[in-house]
Amino acid sequence: MAFILVTGGTGTLGRLVTPLLSDAGHPVRVLSRRGGTSAGGVEHVVGDLSTGEGVEAAVEGAEVVLHLAGGPKGDAAATERLVRAAVAVGVRHFVHISAIGVDRMPPAWFSEKLGAERAVAESGLPWTTLRAAQFHDLVLTVVGKMARLPVVPVPGGLRFEPVDARDVAERLVGLTLGEPAGLVPDLAGPEVHGLGELVRSYLAAHDKRRPALPIRMPGKAGRAYRAGDNLAGPQATRGTRTWEDFLAERVPANR
Ligand SMILES: NC(=O)c1ccc[n+]([C@@H]2O[C@H](COP(=O)([O-])OP(=O)(O)OC[C@H]3O[C@@H](n4cnc5c(N)ncnc54)[C@H](OP(=O)(O)O)[C@@H]3O)[C@@H](O)[C@H]2O)c1
Repeated sequence: MAFILVTGGTGTLGRLVTPLLSDAGHPVRVLSRRGGTSAGGVEHVVGDLSTGEGVEAAVEGAEVVLHLAGGPKGDAAATERLVRAAVAVGVRHFVHISAIGVDRMPPAWFSEKLGAERAVAESGLPWTTLRAAQFHDLVLTVVGKMARLPVVPVPGGLRFEPVDARDVAERLVGLTLGEPAGLVPDLAGPEVHGLGELVRSYLAAHDKRRPALPIRMPGKAGRAYRAGDNLAGPQATRGTRTWEDFLAERVPANR
């Protein structure tokens, strides 16, 4: 039977998407490097998009590909590899998660994601790409690391609109089960927060106090962040779950 291939289906986002697809009655195959335990309608296979190992075998028989696998570098080449395999078997719909600001932000990670977007758009396959804001989980990791420092350096003017990975998962499932739609409106969180505010809320939730040291992020990246180039435009759709709600869920009540 035809199935949906979910690359990165074991990651933060993939772990949420996979059961939603499976519960909706769609057989799912998950591709990752470390694999997982196949159960119910979800089959796990091992492959590496960075080397190409196992990729063609994973794509064989897929009707739809939902590409979520990604890492700190090499996403463009990895996506090109996956796209080639998808073209070879005539996948009906290629769905891809990207990030808001890929076409404006200077850091290399964004250019990689833009290269990945281009590989999908130029593949000749019917496609859908969703650009999302930073997930709450990522913001939690970053501010958690900052809060461990005795003095927290806070670059001025940096704003984020973090989105809940559950909101992204729900939107992606709708897109995956729908018709190819090209580049769809961005998905950001319901609120915009300054970085200092995100750190302060984390510290308050943990009953911690740390002096903050205002700093200025230098260079092109600093200018782009201060200009809000990482933020969604007015056409964006918004998730419903807020950073405060997410934080309250994650901070243990009996800490
Ligand atoms: N996190 C954010 O704030 C954010 C925001 C916007 C867009 N995105 C994009 O959303 C996607 C999912 O993010 P996430 O936070 O869920 O990532 P994650 O938690 O780091 O999960 C990454 C997933 O991809 C798999 N993977 C990584 N490299 C692979 C490779 N070379 N070959 C095969 N599988 C590989 C991982 O499994 P193994 O390690 O076992 O291979 C894992 O299942 C990524 O493309 C990311 O760029 C993320």
